[in-house]
Amino acid sequence: MPRASYVNGRYVRHLQAMVHIEDRGYQFADGVYEVIGVFGGCLIDVEEHLDRLERSLSELRMVPPLGRTSLKIIGRETLRRNHVQNGKIYIQISRGVATRDHPFPASSKSSLIVTASSGSWPSLSKAKTGSAVVTGPDLRWRRCDIKSVSLLPNLLAKQTAVEAVAAELWMTDDNGFVTEGTASNAWILTSEDEIITRQADDGILAGITRQTLIRLIKREGYKLTLRAFTIEEAKAAKEAFFTSATAIVKPVTSIDGDRIGKGVPGEITCKLIDLYFNHMHDTRDHHGH
Ligand code: PDD
Repeated sequence: MPRASYVNGRYVRHLQAMVHIEDRGYQFADGVYEVIGVFGGCLIDVEEHLDRLERSLSELRMVPPLGRTSLKIIGRETLRRNHVQNGKIYIQISRGVATRDHPFPASSKSSLIVTASSGSWPSLSKAKTGSAVVTGPDLRWRRCDIKSVSLLPNLLAKQTAVEAVAAELWMTDDNGFVTEGTASNAWILTSEDEIITRQADDGILAGITRQTLIRLIKREGYKLTLRAFTIEEAKAAKEAFFTSATAIVKPVTSIDGDRIGKGVPGEITCKLIDLYFNHMHDTRDHHGH
């Protein structure tokens, strides 16, 4: 349980951290968020996460409550007050408090909250263990590129995964193509050793872990194609994995109970985990904390 959280200009005891009942985030899910990993006291890919936050805000015509530098100071201060060295921070911005009415309020100040929580990262060997994925329909709206707090379809799908004892549920669009996981991006490796993940369109959230991994994959010279793939292709893949700020790179060894490849974490997937771990270490070592 965090000790202190930031709410609209103040650090308050976490148990007393509250927003008003007429906050539009609470009433309409009229808000956006970011989850940023913390490794050795450092915020991983912080600039990229803040770029995406600014984009989500602008797509919803919301005004950032404060600038990027202030946001980083608040993030780091929230980490400090909670003694978080490893874990994550959560930033949420809503359109603010106004009498409940659907149109945007003529004047409202956006609400900002920041929380920090501790959590240990897996060891390299633990990270290289397999996980199960199940599949289901993507019930979301057509602007999944916006990191909105409106997550009901994601929650329903995640609950289906939990009840199936799976780590994730990969959602499929009306044409049978995988969009993404409930809180992660989906990837496969074909029998021709081509790494595939969906192009960043409005059907998926352009994950920051995905973006960083694309950069690392290109640097290493692996074959990469950004395109949609079907569940059938995924089940026939040599390797599969998913990425997110909290799961990092997670090997998938079964989809709907069907074994992927040899049924153990793939060789390339494990190399990508090494690359991402190195990226985390580099971030920490270069920013020093
Ligand atoms: N989720 N797709 C969806 C729908 C997500 O919610 C997330 C992240 C991702 C991966 O994005 P990134 O690599 O930037 O974390 C993809 C966060 C972790 C969450 O909701 O907790």
